[in-house]
Amino acid sequence: MPTADRRRAVHGMPPADGLTPDTETLIDMEKKIIIAIDGYSSSGKSTMARALAAKTGYTYIDSGAMYRAVTLYALRHGMIAEGRVDREALAGALPSISISFRKAGADGRQHTLLNGEDVETEIRDMAVSSWVSPVAELPEVRQRLTALQQEYGREKGIVMDGRDIGTTVFPHAEMKVFVDASPEERARRRLLEMEAKGEHPSYEEVFANIVKRDHIDANRKESPLRKAPDAVSLDNSRMTEAEQLEWLMRLFHDKTGIEI
Ligand code: DC
Repeated sequence: MPTADRRRAVHGMPPADGLTPDTETLIDMEKKIIIAIDGYSSSGKSTMARALAAKTGYTYIDSGAMYRAVTLYALRHGMIAEGRVDREALAGALPSISISFRKAGADGRQHTLLNGEDVETEIRDMAVSSWVSPVAELPEVRQRLTALQQEYGREKGIVMDGRDIGTTVFPHAEMKVFVDASPEERARRRLLEMEAKGEHPSYEEVFANIVKRDHIDANRKESPLRKAPDAVSLDNSRMTEAEQLEWLMRLFHDKTGIEI
Protein backbone atom coordinates (compact mmCIF):
# COMPACT_ATOMS: atom_id res chain seq x y z
CA MET A 1 0.00 0.00 0.00
CA PRO A 2 1.43 3.46 -0.84
CA THR A 3 2.56 5.41 2.22
CA ALA A 4 -0.09 8.10 1.75
CA ASP A 5 -2.85 5.47 1.70
CA ARG A 6 -1.39 3.75 4.75
CA ARG A 7 -1.55 7.06 6.60
CA ARG A 8 -5.13 7.57 5.42
CA ALA A 9 -6.00 4.09 6.67
CA VAL A 10 -4.58 4.97 10.11
CA HIS A 11 -7.05 7.85 10.16
CA GLY A 12 -9.92 5.55 9.13
CA MET A 13 -10.08 6.98 5.59
CA PRO A 14 -10.41 5.14 2.31
CA PRO A 15 -7.50 5.17 -0.19
CA ALA A 16 -7.06 8.40 -2.16
CA ASP A 17 -9.65 8.71 -4.92
CA GLY A 18 -8.30 11.82 -6.57
CA LEU A 19 -11.51 13.67 -5.72
CA THR A 20 -10.47 15.01 -2.38
CA PRO A 21 -7.00 16.41 -2.99
CA ASP A 22 -6.82 18.18 0.30
CA THR A 23 -7.15 15.16 2.53
CA GLU A 24 -3.42 14.68 3.03
CA THR A 25 -3.06 18.34 3.91
CA LEU A 26 -5.96 18.05 6.31
CA ILE A 27 -4.38 15.09 8.06
CA ASP A 28 -1.16 17.07 8.52
CA MET A 29 -3.03 20.18 9.64
CA GLU A 30 -4.96 18.10 12.13
CA LYS A 31 -1.78 16.85 13.68
CA LYS A 32 -0.04 20.21 13.82
CA ILE A 33 -0.70 22.16 16.95
CA ILE A 34 -0.05 25.58 18.42
CA ILE A 35 2.36 25.66 21.33
CA ALA A 36 2.31 28.64 23.68
CA ILE A 37 5.21 29.14 26.08
CA ASP A 38 4.73 31.98 28.52
CA GLY A 39 6.70 33.12 31.51
CA TYR A 40 8.75 35.78 33.25
CA SER A 41 11.70 37.66 31.74
CA SER A 42 14.81 35.57 31.26
CA SER A 43 13.13 32.40 32.46
CA GLY A 44 14.76 30.57 29.57
CA LYS A 45 11.48 30.21 27.72
CA SER A 46 13.00 31.37 24.41
CA THR A 47 15.73 28.75 24.65
CA MET A 48 13.09 26.12 25.40
CA ALA A 49 10.80 27.29 22.61
CA ARG A 50 13.65 27.41 20.08
CA ALA A 51 14.82 23.90 20.98
CA LEU A 52 11.28 22.53 20.81
CA ALA A 53 10.68 24.14 17.42
CA ALA A 54 13.93 22.69 16.06
CA LYS A 55 13.04 19.23 17.33
CA THR A 56 9.47 19.24 15.99
CA GLY A 57 10.19 21.14 12.76
CA TYR A 58 7.75 23.84 13.86
CA THR A 59 8.20 27.57 13.26
CA TYR A 60 9.52 29.51 16.23
CA ILE A 61 8.27 33.03 16.90
CA ASP A 62 9.74 35.16 19.68
CA SER A 63 6.90 37.56 20.48
CA GLY A 64 9.08 39.49 22.94
CA ALA A 65 11.38 40.37 20.04
CA MET A 66 8.40 42.04 18.35
CA TYR A 67 7.77 44.26 21.40
CA ARG A 68 11.48 44.99 21.53
CA ALA A 69 11.56 45.99 17.84
CA VAL A 70 8.69 48.46 18.37
CA THR A 71 10.56 49.85 21.39
CA LEU A 72 13.72 50.30 19.32
CA TYR A 73 11.69 52.14 16.68
CA ALA A 74 10.26 54.45 19.37
CA LEU A 75 13.72 55.14 20.81
CA ARG A 76 15.20 55.89 17.41
CA HIS A 77 12.38 58.25 16.48
CA GLY A 78 12.49 60.30 19.67
CA MET A 79 9.19 58.92 20.95
CA ILE A 80 10.72 58.15 24.32
CA ALA A 81 11.89 61.29 26.06
CA GLU A 82 11.89 62.84 29.48
CA GLY A 83 11.15 59.48 31.06
CA ARG A 84 7.98 58.72 29.14
CA VAL A 85 6.72 57.09 25.99
CA ASP A 86 4.81 59.35 23.60
CA ARG A 87 1.79 57.08 23.22
CA GLU A 88 0.04 59.14 20.59
CA ALA A 89 3.09 59.42 18.34
CA LEU A 90 3.87 55.72 18.62
CA ALA A 91 0.26 54.67 17.99
CA GLY A 92 0.27 56.88 14.89
CA ALA A 93 3.52 55.35 13.65
CA LEU A 94 2.45 51.70 14.04
CA PRO A 95 1.27 51.31 10.42
CA SER A 96 4.77 52.22 9.25
CA ILE A 97 6.49 49.66 11.46
CA SER A 98 7.03 46.30 9.85
CA ILE A 99 8.47 43.39 11.78
CA SER A 100 9.60 40.13 10.28
CA PHE A 101 12.03 37.30 10.95
CA ARG A 102 14.70 35.58 8.94
CA LYS A 103 17.16 32.81 9.62
CA ALA A 104 20.65 34.27 9.81
CA GLY A 105 24.14 33.58 11.04
CA ALA A 106 26.16 30.40 11.05
CA ASP A 107 23.85 28.73 13.55
CA GLY A 108 20.74 29.51 11.50
CA ARG A 109 19.15 31.32 14.44
CA GLN A 110 16.20 33.54 13.84
CA HIS A 111 16.91 37.25 13.60
CA THR A 112 14.39 40.04 13.95
CA LEU A 113 14.00 42.59 11.18
CA LEU A 114 12.61 46.07 11.73
CA ASN A 115 11.50 47.55 8.43
CA GLY A 116 13.87 45.15 6.73
CA GLU A 117 16.90 45.95 8.91
CA ASP A 118 18.43 43.21 11.05
CA VAL A 119 18.14 44.58 14.61
CA GLU A 120 18.67 41.33 16.51
CA THR A 121 21.61 42.67 18.52
CA GLU A 122 20.22 46.11 19.24
CA ILE A 123 16.87 44.89 20.54
CA ARG A 124 18.68 43.00 23.33
CA ASP A 125 20.51 46.13 24.57
CA MET A 126 19.90 47.56 28.01
CA ALA A 127 18.26 50.68 26.51
CA VAL A 128 15.57 48.58 24.84
CA SER A 129 15.24 46.25 27.85
CA SER A 130 14.62 49.26 30.09
CA TRP A 131 11.81 50.65 27.93
CA VAL A 132 10.12 47.61 26.49
CA SER A 133 7.67 47.04 29.35
CA PRO A 134 6.14 50.54 29.23
CA VAL A 135 5.87 50.22 25.44
CA ALA A 136 4.27 46.77 25.77
CA GLU A 137 1.68 48.26 28.12
CA LEU A 138 0.16 50.38 25.38
CA PRO A 139 -3.12 48.90 24.10
CA GLU A 140 -2.47 50.08 20.52
CA VAL A 141 0.87 48.29 20.44
CA ARG A 142 -0.62 45.12 21.93
CA GLN A 143 -3.53 45.05 19.49
CA ARG A 144 -1.25 45.44 16.50
CA LEU A 145 1.27 42.82 17.60
CA THR A 146 -1.40 40.36 18.75
CA ALA A 147 -2.99 40.49 15.29
CA LEU A 148 0.40 39.86 13.65
CA GLN A 149 1.10 36.96 16.00
CA GLN A 150 -2.29 35.39 15.30
CA GLU A 151 -1.53 35.61 11.60
CA TYR A 152 1.66 33.60 12.17
CA GLY A 153 -0.39 30.88 13.86
CA ARG A 154 -3.00 30.53 11.13
CA GLU A 155 -1.50 27.33 9.77
CA LYS A 156 -0.49 25.95 13.17
CA GLY A 157 2.84 24.14 13.51
CA ILE A 158 4.15 27.03 15.58
CA VAL A 159 5.91 27.53 18.90
CA MET A 160 5.51 31.06 20.23
CA ASP A 161 6.92 32.36 23.47
CA GLY A 162 5.90 35.47 25.38
CA ARG A 163 3.70 36.65 28.23
CA ASP A 164 0.14 36.40 26.94
CA ILE A 165 0.37 33.75 24.24
CA GLY A 166 -1.69 31.12 26.07
CA THR A 167 -4.16 33.65 27.48
CA THR A 168 -4.77 36.27 24.76
CA VAL A 169 -2.99 35.46 21.50
CA PHE A 170 -3.87 31.76 21.30
CA PRO A 171 -6.36 30.97 24.07
CA HIS A 172 -7.13 27.72 22.20
CA ALA A 173 -3.52 26.59 21.85
CA GLU A 174 -3.34 22.82 22.24
CA MET A 175 -0.18 22.92 24.36
CA LYS A 176 0.52 25.64 26.90
CA VAL A 177 3.51 25.92 29.17
CA PHE A 178 4.14 28.47 31.90
CA VAL A 179 7.83 28.74 32.75
CA ASP A 180 9.23 30.17 35.93
CA ALA A 181 12.57 30.41 37.70
CA SER A 182 13.68 32.46 40.69
CA PRO A 183 14.50 36.15 39.96
CA GLU A 184 18.07 35.52 41.18
CA GLU A 185 18.54 32.66 38.73
CA ARG A 186 17.00 34.70 35.91
CA ALA A 187 19.27 37.67 36.64
CA ARG A 188 22.27 35.35 36.65
CA ARG A 189 21.29 33.93 33.24
CA ARG A 190 20.62 37.38 31.79
CA LEU A 191 23.98 38.68 33.02
CA LEU A 192 25.80 35.75 31.39
CA GLU A 193 23.94 36.42 28.13
CA MET A 194 24.92 40.09 28.20
CA GLU A 195 28.53 39.37 29.10
CA ALA A 196 28.74 36.99 26.15
CA LYS A 197 27.78 39.96 23.99
CA GLY A 198 30.46 42.17 25.54
CA GLU A 199 28.11 44.20 27.77
CA HIS A 200 29.01 44.46 31.43
CA PRO A 201 26.17 45.77 33.58
CA SER A 202 26.32 44.94 37.28
CA TYR A 203 24.35 41.98 38.65
CA GLU A 204 22.34 44.46 40.75
CA GLU A 205 21.38 46.46 37.67
CA VAL A 206 20.21 43.38 35.80
CA PHE A 207 18.35 42.05 38.86
CA ALA A 208 16.58 45.40 39.35
CA ASN A 209 15.56 45.48 35.67
CA ILE A 210 14.10 41.96 35.92
CA VAL A 211 12.13 42.68 39.09
CA LYS A 212 10.80 45.92 37.63
CA ARG A 213 9.75 44.21 34.39
CA ASP A 214 8.08 41.36 36.30
CA HIS A 215 6.05 43.94 38.17
CA ILE A 216 4.97 45.89 35.09
CA ASP A 217 4.28 42.74 33.04
CA ALA A 218 2.15 41.14 35.75
CA ASN A 219 0.25 44.27 36.74
CA ARG A 220 -0.53 46.03 33.48
CA LYS A 221 -4.18 46.44 32.51
CA GLU A 222 -3.98 44.91 29.05
CA SER A 223 -3.11 41.18 28.80
CA PRO A 224 -1.04 40.97 31.99
CA LEU A 225 1.36 38.09 32.44
CA ARG A 226 -0.79 35.26 33.81
CA LYS A 227 -0.68 31.52 33.75
CA ALA A 228 -3.56 30.26 31.61
CA PRO A 229 -5.71 27.84 33.64
CA ASP A 230 -4.89 25.02 31.22
CA ALA A 231 -1.14 25.74 31.07
CA VAL A 232 1.32 23.29 32.59
CA SER A 233 3.83 24.98 34.93
CA LEU A 234 7.54 24.34 34.90
CA ASP A 235 10.10 25.75 37.30
CA ASN A 236 13.34 25.21 35.39
CA SER A 237 15.69 26.83 37.96
CA ARG A 238 17.53 23.54 38.47
CA MET A 239 17.11 21.90 35.10
CA THR A 240 19.62 21.63 32.29
CA GLU A 241 18.55 22.62 28.78
CA ALA A 242 18.53 18.96 27.77
CA GLU A 243 16.20 18.11 30.69
CA GLN A 244 13.89 20.96 29.75
CA LEU A 245 13.65 19.73 26.16
CA GLU A 246 12.97 16.19 27.35
CA TRP A 247 10.17 17.53 29.56
CA LEU A 248 8.69 19.47 26.62
CA MET A 249 8.87 16.48 24.30
CA ARG A 250 6.99 14.33 26.83
CA LEU A 251 4.25 16.94 26.95
CA PHE A 252 4.26 17.24 23.14
CA HIS A 253 3.80 13.47 22.93
CA ASP A 254 0.93 13.60 25.45
CA LYS A 255 -0.78 16.29 23.39
CA THR A 256 -0.27 14.89 19.90
CA GLY A 257 0.50 11.20 20.27
CA ILE A 258 3.53 11.89 18.06
CA GLU A 259 6.85 10.42 19.15
CA ILE A 260 9.94 12.13 17.72
O1 DC B 1 10.63 37.95 26.44
P1 DC B 1 11.34 39.30 26.45
O2 DC B 1 12.03 39.62 27.73
O3 DC B 1 12.23 39.47 25.27
O4 DC B 1 10.15 40.35 26.28
C1 DC B 1 10.39 41.71 26.24
C2 DC B 1 9.22 42.48 26.84
O5 DC B 1 8.10 42.40 25.95
C3 DC B 1 8.76 42.06 28.20
O6 DC B 1 9.20 42.94 29.20
C4 DC B 1 7.26 42.11 28.12
C5 DC B 1 6.92 42.26 26.69
N1 DC B 1 6.14 41.16 26.14
C6 DC B 1 4.78 41.21 26.25
O7 DC B 1 4.25 42.13 26.88
N2 DC B 1 4.01 40.24 25.69
C7 DC B 1 4.57 39.23 25.01
N3 DC B 1 3.79 38.31 24.44
C8 DC B 1 5.98 39.16 24.91
C9 DC B 1 6.74 40.13 25.49
